[in-house]
Amino acid sequence: MPIIMPIYGTRPEAIKMAPIINSLNMSPDMDCFVTVTGQHRDMLDQVNVLFDIVPDADLDIIQQRQSLNSILTRTVDGLDQLFSRTRPDAVVVQGDTTTSTAGAISAFYHGIPVVHVEAGLRSGDLFSPFPEEANRKLTSQVASLHLAPTSVSKANLLRENIDHRDVVVTGNTVIDALFATAKKTIEFSDDRLESLSSSARRIVLVTTHRRENQGETMHGIGRALARIADAEPGVTIVLPVHKNPAVREAVLPYLSDRPNIIVTEPLAYGEFTRMLSLAHVVLTDSGGVQEEAPSFGKPVLVMRDNTERPEAVAAGTVRLIGTDESRIYKEVTDLLRNEESYLSMANAVNPYGDGRAAERSVAAIRALLGIGERMDEFLL
Ligand code: UD1
Ligand code: UDP
Repeated sequence: MPIIMPIYGTRPEAIKMAPIINSLNMSPDMDCFVTVTGQHRDMLDQVNVLFDIVPDADLDIIQQRQSLNSILTRTVDGLDQLFSRTRPDAVVVQGDTTTSTAGAISAFYHGIPVVHVEAGLRSGDLFSPFPEEANRKLTSQVASLHLAPTSVSKANLLRENIDHRDVVVTGNTVIDALFATAKKTIEFSDDRLESLSSSARRIVLVTTHRRENQGETMHGIGRALARIADAEPGVTIVLPVHKNPAVREAVLPYLSDRPNIIVTEPLAYGEFTRMLSLAHVVLTDSGGVQEEAPSFGKPVLVMRDNTERPEAVAAGTVRLIGTDESRIYKEVTDLLRNEESYLSMANAVNPYGDGRAAERSVAAIRALLGIGERMDEFLL
């Protein structure tokens, strides 16, 4: 029986790979061998537990303040050893992390076909986001099957001369994960969030972690949050802060001793999506959050100068605001104070998927192996 090996290592990959693993596990004629690199630890394990995934192999590569090259070399070394024991018929990598590119290149060097989930996203700037834009372009060069979430991402691949026969538009599996999670009843494990959820206070939900924003830019983000909290005492800012010490050192010094700022550990995925549903405004530099928040009709202000996810910008629910401290302050407070501008952004749209992306992905993998047929593509 063919062995399919999903390889992933960080929180967003785990969330977006979970629906595919679930679908692979339901295919009686394929074996799913789950490999995690452990690029993240707590933030990765948290997702695997939620989706009942027990990895078959764990490379456990994480180091505190790890460098990009250490993620790359430790993944390649670990996979070299693993492939000599378990040789898959195809590997599946997701997105644009260094785990995903290292997984793709390692498999390619072993002559193992690479399936790339969430293929074809492009910001058009090799250095932003860094290193993700380069990572996804590198993976596209070695993949045998490109699972593009939208027709925009498919067009990007065709423009780079990827053979159209190797590209399938599936929708983004994050919407599958979101739909699956929305069915569950979720309570906050942090009492402050549970009482906030039953109050009438407006919530600004914030996440930040981008490598290129770390340093002075992220200090500016911290200062902007403090200014927003002081100017808007009727609003509560919720920041589930990323585990990266570089993020914590930059942002947290500005946020202590304010009654209307709640800083938490990373929230379990179900809790985070519930917080998305409660939020009034979302302020983020995350990729995945840009895809999820529009489903809830929440305006999203993105602290970046460009995005590889233009679909929700076009739909009007996502706005790029850059990373300047004063601009962040102005954009958030304007949105909180100006109802007309708020309502123009607060539309529920779902340009990223219909909840069947994993099914389409697994059908395309079966077709790649010659044991099945592709499904119709995701159309907006
Ligand atoms: C990584 C990805 C990024 C993705 C992000 C999702 C790369 C280069 N970066 O960035 O594309 O958007 O994940 O969150 O692949 N840490 C822990 N425990 C954890 C996770 C992280 O302690 O569970 C700390 C460690 O000190 C680690 C540091 O955070 O060295 C940075 O983690 P790393 O994966 O290198 O970078 P991210 O910023 O998380
Ligand atoms: N997320 C989560 N808990 C949190 C913050 C985010 O589960 O406290 C989820 C979020 O719903 C989204 C994903 O993590 O699906 C995004 O991960 P991240 O922002 O770390 O990475 P990116 O998407 O930017 O690569």
